[in-house]
Amino acid sequence: MLFSRRKNKQKNIPYISSSLPSFDQGGLITERRVIIVSNRLPVKVMIKPSGFQLQQSEGGLATGLSSVYKRNNNLWIGWPGAFLNESQRAQVNPLLEAEKLMPVYLTEEEIAAYYEGFSNETLWPLYHYFPSYTLYKKSDWEAYCSVNRKFAEHVLQVAHEDDIIWVHDYQLCLVPAMIRERLPDVTIGFFQHIPFPNYEIFRLLPWRKEILKGLLGADLIGFHTLDDTKHFIVSCSRLLSVEVMMNRIMVEGREVMVDTFPMGIDFEKFQNWARKDRTLQNERRLRSLVGSAKIMISVDRLDYSKGILNRLQAFEMLLENYPHLRGKISFIQLIVPSRDQVPQYKWLKDEIDKKVSAINSKFSSFGWTPIYYFYRSFQMDMLSALYKAADIAMITPMRDGMNLVSKEFVASKTDKRGVLILSEMAGASKELLHALIVNPNDIEAMVDALLQAIQMPEEEQAYRIQAMQEIIAKYNVYHWVNLFIETLEEVKQQQDKLTTKMLNRQVTEHMVRHYAQSKKRIFFLDYDGTLVPYFADINQAIPDRELKRLLIGLARDERNRVVVISGRSHETLGKWLGDLPIDLIAEHGVWRKDDGRDWQKYTDLNTSWKSSIRHILEMYMHRTPGSFIEEKSYSLAWHYRNVSTELGEERASELIDNLKFFSSDYGLQVLSGNKVIEIKNAEINKGKAARALLKEQRYDFIMAIGDDATDEDTFRAMPTRAYTIRVGSTISAAQYYLRSYQEVRALLETLAEVNVEEFIKK
Ligand code: UDP
Ligand code: G6P
Repeated sequence: MLFSRRKNKQKNIPYISSSLPSFDQGGLITERRVIIVSNRLPVKVMIKPSGFQLQQSEGGLATGLSSVYKRNNNLWIGWPGAFLNESQRAQVNPLLEAEKLMPVYLTEEEIAAYYEGFSNETLWPLYHYFPSYTLYKKSDWEAYCSVNRKFAEHVLQVAHEDDIIWVHDYQLCLVPAMIRERLPDVTIGFFQHIPFPNYEIFRLLPWRKEILKGLLGADLIGFHTLDDTKHFIVSCSRLLSVEVMMNRIMVEGREVMVDTFPMGIDFEKFQNWARKDRTLQNERRLRSLVGSAKIMISVDRLDYSKGILNRLQAFEMLLENYPHLRGKISFIQLIVPSRDQVPQYKWLKDEIDKKVSAINSKFSSFGWTPIYYFYRSFQMDMLSALYKAADIAMITPMRDGMNLVSKEFVASKTDKRGVLILSEMAGASKELLHALIVNPNDIEAMVDALLQAIQMPEEEQAYRIQAMQEIIAKYNVYHWVNLFIETLEEVKQQQDKLTTKMLNRQVTEHMVRHYAQSKKRIFFLDYDGTLVPYFADINQAIPDRELKRLLIGLARDERNRVVVISGRSHETLGKWLGDLPIDLIAEHGVWRKDDGRDWQKYTDLNTSWKSSIRHILEMYMHRTPGSFIEEKSYSLAWHYRNVSTELGEERASELIDNLKFFSSDYGLQVLSGNKVIEIKNAEINKGKAARALLKEQRYDFIMAIGDDATDEDTFRAMPTRAYTIRVGSTISAAQYYLRSYQEVRALLETLAEVNVEEFIKK
């Protein structure tokens, strides 16, 4: 939108400030300083013969956020949209500074490779499901990395650890991790305003892992729709070795949250504009221009993702197939110029020009123009009048992260008259359920929707608009911003809680002191995932030399009793660890072997359930390639560690559901472990087995370490003075958390090496 100009008395440079977005109605709830970072600033600098002019930037990000950001010393960092030399920058900087804007100046080469290239010829088409438009150029990628670094450096010049840094959109995916490298504890949010594609599309990108790692530098990552959120999480779990728990991703011990925040608009602002005299005058002008014909509108940036050609095709088909409608409906199409240096956009512009003139020359008559076509941007009073005057808005993108225009149209309908036709491919369609929802590839369905809209009775229009306005008014842009910031602050608090759970140096030192002073110690150590990593083939998890040396070293001290407590079969455990001076508990407690003795079975249990359960597990094994069944004396396990994460998780939850029915009948327990579902007699568990050992003697140092749900029984069986440690997950009854089996080994190594005598002397 263009803004009226006013003289800046001090500098005698004309610029607009009176009509810059108003920042003070509503605002950010946080007291902390928020630094917004986006490719574009909410205004762009225009060089005019008379001086510099600040004009609002196009696009949903700038229009959406500009209503809210200016408060509490906040700051917005971004590109001012112009190439300026040093002396021009010196003149423009104070204007920007007065608006709390910090410019990142980019060169023409940087814009060509980072913005037009990687952002808009690689990420934009790929993320909007146009893989055939996507270019993969290494030089563009390199420019993207270096410009992202430049943005991060600007942030680092001004940011402090207690600021909130909010990075926006696909042009800056690497910035969160770049900031995190230098400010490890700072709060960073990232919001992506465009779709996140499904894994099959995203994996096409040669730099897919780098993009994910860059984003995971943030503490909270937001998307407009649930699908985008799911797609991102699936891509992370498939491409990176990170632990995913629902919508939380563990990244090097830091919990990152991924969630859905559909962006809203400034509802009140659009309602107010729709009532202004200037708007009403413009509305009347528009009406008289079109005459008695119905007005259909569309408003888009020039973009192939907006479905402009398909829409023109539908309008043409309507006039072709329903000749009685000729002269009865006019289409006002506003296209805002955008990215016109990118070849696909230039091509699209030519095609639109051709199509519009073809339709107009074919159908126009004296007194009736089928299409009014504007290739420019409108000021707010004109845009509002357009929304207001329209009988129908046809917003039918092929793919759109959200689409604010559809919400702005509905919000401007103060008289509740008008029909919205909306593409199901726009994020907004998930909220605006009372629109006529269409598939933009189905031209006939779009024509049908147009017919329905033309004939829709006014009461139905009012009912639908009212229902949508209630949603848009409630979930407005202030709500969106505050919900995001509130969630970000909660994520940070949650991380702080986890950090205290982390086995840090202080706790370890206390533990070592306690260890040195104690006389009788016991260690309950789970095996897979705790002492050794997970292998695709369960038979490969043979203890390595280093592990054996570590266990022997620990057991050498006669004050120590080392117990490996595992779900593995007693045969396997005996073969692998039977010759070490330690105790073994196998199959969750069915078998026990004390150091130097033979295996003993805890009790004889009923196994008659096995054949029916095996039958169910076999069914799942045949349906799920890569999964397999393991049979032990008193349990059956279905492993899915070699199955793709998504399919594995889906089948596992289905299986658990199916097994519920049998488990109560047979007195069984269904355990969901790390990529394994295990079914066993309910009487047996690691907790019971561990408790039995604890009763045999009094220990003054107790430690239990494990990595999955079966170890939770052990943790719960421990007295409060015990050290309980869960590996790889913070959701646990255990007191402490370690990241990996390597950290477990390092801890045990530290304890095994404590020179007790010397320690006591100190
Ligand atoms: N818009 C504008 N000037 C115009 C027409 C539209 O600034 O002449 C604004 C419009 O009000 C909306 C934004 O551009 O807020 C477009 O956002 P949308 O989410 O619909 O699409 P995007 O451009 O972000 O893909
Ligand atoms: C979309 C993107 C924004 C972008 C806007 C305008 O809304 O999500 O990040 O700023 O389009 O595009 P432009 O390329 O002109 O900045």
